[in-house]
Amino acid sequence: DLSKQKELKEIAGILLMATSVDNWSPIQKFEAKPDDLLICTFPKSGTTWIQEIVDMIAQNGDLEKCQQVILQQRHPFLEWTGPPKPSGVERANAMPSPRILKTHLPAHLLPPSFWENNCKFIYLARNAKDCMVSYYHFYRMNQTLPDPGTWEEYFENFISGKVGWGSWFDHVRGWWTSKDSYRTLFLFYEDIKRNPKQEIRKVMQFMGKNLDETILDKIVQETSFEKMKENPLVNRSAVPKSVMDQSISPFMRKGTVGDWKNHFTVAQNERFDKIYKEKMEGISINFCTEL
Ligand code: PPS
Repeated sequence: DLSKQKELKEIAGILLMATSVDNWSPIQKFEAKPDDLLICTFPKSGTTWIQEIVDMIAQNGDLEKCQQVILQQRHPFLEWTGPPKPSGVERANAMPSPRILKTHLPAHLLPPSFWENNCKFIYLARNAKDCMVSYYHFYRMNQTLPDPGTWEEYFENFISGKVGWGSWFDHVRGWWTSKDSYRTLFLFYEDIKRNPKQEIRKVMQFMGKNLDETILDKIVQETSFEKMKENPLVNRSAVPKSVMDQSISPFMRKGTVGDWKNHFTVAQNERFDKIYKEKMEGISINFCTEL
């Protein structure tokens, strides 16, 4: 019943899928293991991209091993409760270690066992403006999310954190702040775009792997936007149109830096920059917004 999934519900001031909020207890009680690797992102920050990179590294560049099942089945989505089942927690519990998991949860809502077990985290951040634009188009095509309204309406909701998984600002702040106390590789979408091999090598080292240069080159190629857009195991073409209507906007949409310029008015941009300054005070990140 899709109309049920369309709802977002608040928990601790954060909007999440209503089904996650209604089944919150098994998520919070999730038992992480010390060798779990958790991929963490605010939605539309390049989750799919970093998942494919991490998987290719985990499989030592063996494409066939990566291509046995669709990406959503390789890395359980922690707070996913379905439908369809199984939930992310059920999937993770049934998975052999070492596990690679995915979440969009802000750091303060993460199941405590991840911190207690000193798990590894890969956080991928994307500049807020492009993230906002990408999320807008995702809202339009994803039939399990509420209607985003006009761009102007959506813009207001995004800056006040009234979108799924809450405020981009708080999300990035939270994970940025926790990174010095926990084993976190903090990456930027724009850096991967600019220098994929260098960033992929960082991921490899963080995962404790040592792969040949030729394998790294292959991973760069296979995880390019052009390749991934055509790859049915990552481009969500297997998701029914009643859930994701890719004729409205493709899941692999543009994959660029700076598309916000095609959406923001000059006034919106000025306002956004002001709000950004206030909300990100004390956080020394210099996001790149054009390449
Ligand atoms: S989700 O639904 O939250 O998991 O979405 P997510 O994967 O985080 O973000 C989707 C955006 O990432 C872009 N993308 C890529 N960009 C560059 N290279 C590669 N390989 C790649 N794969 C996915 C995707 O196109 C979405 O961004 P936009 O700006 O909408 O195109």
